[in-house]
Amino acid sequence: MENSKGQWSSNFGFLMAAIGSAVGLGNIWGFPYKMGANGGGAFLLIYVILVVFVGFAVMLGELAIGRRTGKGAVGAYRALSRKLTWVGYMGVGSAFLILGFYSVLGGMVMRYMLGFLVNLFGGDGFGAEGFFGSWIANMPGMVGFYALFMLLNITIVMGGISGGIEKFSRIAMPALAVMLVTVIVYVACQPGAMEGYKFMFVPDFSVFDSLKSFFSVLKAAAGQMFFSLSLGMGAMITYGSYLSKSEDLNRNAIIIPVADTIVAIMAGMAVMPACSAFGMDYGQGPGLLFNTLQTVFMDGMGGFIGNLMGFLFYTLVFIAAITSSISLLEVNTAYIIDRKLEKGKKANRRSITAIMGAVIFIVGLPTALDGLGTNVAGGALINNPAITFGLPSVGATADWLDFYDMIAEGILMPLGSLAMSIIIGWVFGSRMIKEEATCSGHVYKGEKFYNICFRYIVPVIMVIVLYAQIQTFFG
Ligand code: PFF
Repeated sequence: MENSKGQWSSNFGFLMAAIGSAVGLGNIWGFPYKMGANGGGAFLLIYVILVVFVGFAVMLGELAIGRRTGKGAVGAYRALSRKLTWVGYMGVGSAFLILGFYSVLGGMVMRYMLGFLVNLFGGDGFGAEGFFGSWIANMPGMVGFYALFMLLNITIVMGGISGGIEKFSRIAMPALAVMLVTVIVYVACQPGAMEGYKFMFVPDFSVFDSLKSFFSVLKAAAGQMFFSLSLGMGAMITYGSYLSKSEDLNRNAIIIPVADTIVAIMAGMAVMPACSAFGMDYGQGPGLLFNTLQTVFMDGMGGFIGNLMGFLFYTLVFIAAITSSISLLEVNTAYIIDRKLEKGKKANRRSITAIMGAVIFIVGLPTALDGLGTNVAGGALINNPAITFGLPSVGATADWLDFYDMIAEGILMPLGSLAMSIIIGWVFGSRMIKEEATCSGHVYKGEKFYNICFRYIVPVIMVIVLYAQIQTFFG
């Protein structure tokens, strides 16, 4: 493998890696909460419609661009046309920014996993009450576990495509499924679980009563869908570039979003009823994943079984997180490898991955050092962007995590995806997608449908997402 690029060894391996990228923290805490807060079953309906009309097309588009050019995001757009390189940079830029804070959260998940493991062996894995509050201000702890999580990412990505990412994902993803089903079944047996299902699924059709409420649900669902499907950040372009020409692109572009959506619903079926069964507020954000659920497992379920379920749960969240974060690291690694190869130089995957991981670690450090917005007053080492730069206090400046996320998920991601749909729908035509989808002798099913998606539906939805993100972060 002289050029250090590599290829998936099988379509199954590719699917496990790609579904692994899609299934992540976004599925496990973002989806259930947003669903409950935005009309339950009505949100689900809109979400599924969006997956069908936007998710499938963008997934196909990204995989096709990747496979056709055999390059990561920047190289791929540059190969299409030199004038389009900037679109690739938007994807790589947002993957770069997201990987840092995603890994801070991944490190926290590892700490919780370890805590429940210690409990299982009769120790005291969490110490005093209010562990979450004290942990986010524990700087050596936060940074240490962040570093550990990043090191694991580097180790896997250094192993290459089939020998690292695929090898890990094809074991980890089935394990995740087994653990998730175990937790779902146990939770379903608890009295009071029903309330949680109701919170999630009972459709509140009043969201269709006014244009305003419909738009607000549409915005929430569309933003969630892009993040959850790992779109707009070059991840699927990069993963697609390692896929053999003989595989069925069209079918893969449907399997990944369907699997991701099923896991998101399943995650909700574990998390929401677990909260309701033990009288906990569904809450949102980090509080739900770390504070609420720890209490559910330790105090609600309690005893050996509570610790066991807690350990299983945080282990599956860890798998979900790391199979996503390695795709973000790979986007960055592939960018440098492509650059070197284009210049006719040798590319050493191991050192490139290590350097990239280290740089991202440093850039992401503020998201750990402000204690998720705890600030110096609360015991953290630095202050949030609002205090540091004397900015107005809005969502995007409340902590460094949201600040980075605003640039990445709020601006770069929707702009990049809007550009991509216009490029495919209006500039290159869909000929390129068709050639890719049929080059292996497979039929390109739904060609007319996809053309309509690329030309009209995706651009409109992307404008809505962009508008919504800006509103969320600055509102
Ligand atoms: N899809 C992941 C999640 O739902 O948590 C996050 C993610 C991974 C987004 C990779 C983008 C990406 F390129």
